[in-house]
Amino acid sequence: MRGGRAPAWACFVLAALGLAMRAVAAEAPPTVSTPEQIQAGAVLYAQKCTGCHSPSLGEGGHGPALKGDYFRSTWGGQSARKLYGMVISTMPADNPGSLSPADALALVAFILNSNGFPAGGTSLGEPADLQDVMIAAEG
Ligand code: HEC
Repeated sequence: MRGGRAPAWACFVLAALGLAMRAVAAEAPPTVSTPEQIQAGAVLYAQKCTGCHSPSLGEGGHGPALKGDYFRSTWGGQSARKLYGMVISTMPADNPGSLSPADALALVAFILNSNGFPAGGTSLGEPADLQDVMIAAEG
C-alpha cells in the first residue's frame, strides 16, 4: 500500500481583531445649565440686578461682587442650592420674593457660569438639581 503524501494543510483561522471600543471614563468638568438658560439669566440680571450689583458681576456696584475672590470666599464649598435659596428669598433686595423659581434658576445658572462653571447639556430644571453642584472655593 502506497502511502500518499498528504499535503500539509495549514488552516489559519484569522481571528477577527475586534477593535474594542474602550469607553474612556473621563472626568467631565462640572457643567451647569444650557447656554439658553444662562443667556436668559444674563437678561434677567441686566433687568433686575444691575441697579445694585455691577453689570460685570465684579466689584463696583452697590451690592457685593458676585464673582471673584469675595464670591468664592463666601460661597466656596457651599451647594448651589443654597445660593438659589438666597437669591429667591432675598433678591432683588428692593423687591424680594418677586422672582419665579424659573427666573431664580436662570440667574443662578448665569452667576455660576460667570464663576467658571461651563455650560453643559442640561438646563437646571429643579432646585433640587443644585444640591449636588458644589461651588468651588478656587479656580
Ligand atoms: C436693591 C439693591 C439690590 C438689588 C436690586 C439686587 N441685590 Fe443682590 N445684594 C444686595 C445687597 C445689599 C447684598 C448683600 C446682602 C447681605 O450680605 O446681606 C446682596 C447680595 C447678593 C448675593 C449674595 C452675595 C454674597 O456673596 O454675599 C447674591 C447672590 C445676590 N445679591 C444676587 C442678586 C441677584 C441675582 C439680583 C437680581 C435678581 C440681585 N441680587 C439684586 C443688593 C441688591
